[in-house]
Amino acid sequence: MYNILITVAVITGITAVLALILTWANVRIADYGECKIVINNDKELVVEGGNTLLSSLIANEVFIPSACGGKGTCGYCKCKVDSGAGPVLATELTYLSDNDIKNNVRLSCQVKVKEDMNIQIPEDLFNVKQFKGAIEIAKDITPTIKFLRIKITDGQEIDFKAGQYVQLLAPPYGDSTEEVFRAYSIASSNFEKNFIDLIIGYVDGGILTTYVHKHLSEGDKVTFNGPYGDFYLQESEGDAVLVAVGTGMAPIRSILYEMLHKKIDRNTIFFFGARTKDDLFMLDEMKIFENELPRFKFIPCLSRPREEDNWQGHVGRVNDAIFKYLEGKDDTEAYLCGSAPMIDSTVNALIDKGILENNIFYDKFD
Ligand SMILES: Cc1cc2nc3c(=O)[nH]c(=O)nc-3n(C[C@H](O)[C@H](O)[C@H](O)COP(=O)(O)OP(=O)(O)OC[C@H]3O[C@@H](n4cnc5c(N)ncnc54)[C@H](O)[C@@H]3O)c2cc1C
Ligand code: FES
Repeated sequence: MYNILITVAVITGITAVLALILTWANVRIADYGECKIVINNDKELVVEGGNTLLSSLIANEVFIPSACGGKGTCGYCKCKVDSGAGPVLATELTYLSDNDIKNNVRLSCQVKVKEDMNIQIPEDLFNVKQFKGAIEIAKDITPTIKFLRIKITDGQEIDFKAGQYVQLLAPPYGDSTEEVFRAYSIASSNFEKNFIDLIIGYVDGGILTTYVHKHLSEGDKVTFNGPYGDFYLQESEGDAVLVAVGTGMAPIRSILYEMLHKKIDRNTIFFFGARTKDDLFMLDEMKIFENELPRFKFIPCLSRPREEDNWQGHVGRVNDAIFKYLEGKDDTEAYLCGSAPMIDSTVNALIDKGILENNIFYDKFD
């Protein structure tokens, strides 16, 4: 027994000493000092080494899209790093093509700043701004979806294209110890410059959605940055097919407001998917769009209507409805928003209906 106790004490002692050495080494070796980041051979930042390239840029108000908040799971934070990034990391490989690697494209959320760097980013990212706002409206529009109207309170105005998204910040709260950003499509009209609407679904255990659904109330202050993204209405006279499921409604609503405001007269059909009648929302607004846009048709589709729903409309998924109601032409454009599986199956349905792949635009929410 005595021998066992001695052995345990020795092993614990050795482990503690090793841990101390590792901590000391980490502090000493990871002390990279100040590093210079040169952007587009022009703008120069001096940052404290040791942080990710993404967080170093954000700290200096250079906002790179980072839809997953830096977890390495969205691939949105790519940028060209011409020098100083070291070898490509295993955590980057899923999102880097061979061509990306050949062209020094890296995931800025995975690359750490350990020495001076030269990077290239699209010029329009310099127009992305950080905004301060206050929650003007927070209301449940289905059992799992919240509508937020955020009034911009810092004197700035937001300029965006209908279909683009912002990144909303959740401060540390409860067990979440860090600030996190997540992407949310702007649901309001791009002719409204003093507020944005967001439509946010609840994800069980999700950091930002729990913050929004369980902690945020009207009057609370929030921070967001944007706009980002290349999903927006193209200038065309061809028919438009809009497809969304659940919170995918957000950018489509913004696009519909743009069509209304600009009096765009295109043959437009909107397939909107939900499970039951309780999961449908903004039906009054869809009626207004149908009345005001002469060639607009709204087709709600319920995948699992209940008996009490007494549902007379389309039963099935949006891709079944596309087969039933759509006739694609060469210049028909399609705009899709929602989960990755829904987008993938809908793209196939649209191609089967003769819509050209180049005319299909989408934002995947996961
Ligand atoms: C361009 C873009 C626009 C987006 N716009 C919207 C929008 O308008 N409205 C909206 O509600 N969301 C939108 N999203 C999704 C949003 O950015 C978040 O991913 C989502 O709200 C979950 O964030 P979270 O912090 O709560 O979850 P996290 O803490 O990031 O994730 C918690 C867990 O849930 C899983 N998870 C993440 N998202 C989902 C999901 N949707 N369903 C099921 N499981 C999930 C994760 O894999 C993880 O295991 C958009 C995403 C992108 C890329
Ligand atoms: S921020 Fe999502 S992969 Fe880098």
